[in-house]
Amino acid sequence: MNSKEELKKAAGIHASTYVKNGMKVGLGTGSTVKYTILELGRRIREEKLEISCVPTSIATEKLSIEQGIKLYELSSLEGLDLVIDGADEFNKELTLIKGGGGALVREKIIAQASEKMIVVADDSKKVDTLGKFPLPVEVIQFSWKETRRQISKITGISESKIIKRITNDKTFITDNGNYILDLHLEKIEEPEKLESNLNSLAGVLDCGLFCNIANKVVLASLNGLEIIEN
Ligand code: A5P
Repeated sequence: MNSKEELKKAAGIHASTYVKNGMKVGLGTGSTVKYTILELGRRIREEKLEISCVPTSIATEKLSIEQGIKLYELSSLEGLDLVIDGADEFNKELTLIKGGGGALVREKIIAQASEKMIVVADDSKKVDTLGKFPLPVEVIQFSWKETRRQISKITGISESKIIKRITNDKTFITDNGNYILDLHLEKIEEPEKLESNLNSLAGVLDCGLFCNIANKVVLASLNGLEIIEN
């Protein structure tokens, strides 16, 4: 395992210590929270941990089933105690960019349904200013070009910097059947304003800015683990 993978593992495993018996837990998506899910699976098998979980993506659903984690529909649980999820970037206010894996809409729905959000990350995710990581925006297929035009107008970046996500030579389709536009903004000075402007467009389902949602980041670096609280 290379050192970055070790850091992801350390953060992911530590975050699982916040999960207690009887909790309703949202399970995030990505290569860091994967280690939280594996650790929860271990605790279920070896320590008889009892928890009710909701996955934020089809990929997480599959991994959780393999781990023997009991899954529920979000609508059947009336709120969650905690969600643990990764991030693509975070700043000192704990504003996040998410959606590198394309699961941002379900991730934000589940984060908003949870009393607390714990982010797991290695130190490459910590930034002074958000925006180097392209901001994912989930858009309806029907109007994606028009939505791109509108996004260009409200952000001031050219359409060539608003890129429809392609993976393995195919347009990426989200778990909700939509497209992702990745916005190469470089700098996001006012994340709340940008989130609200983007989300006011009819063709936008949501964007990957998570403002005033995360409570804690479990950050792993070569110096060890650091818990950053809001
Ligand atoms: C999934 O859509 C994303 O929001 C992930 O949570 C985010 O990309 C972090 O993933 P990694 O832990 O794989 O970097």
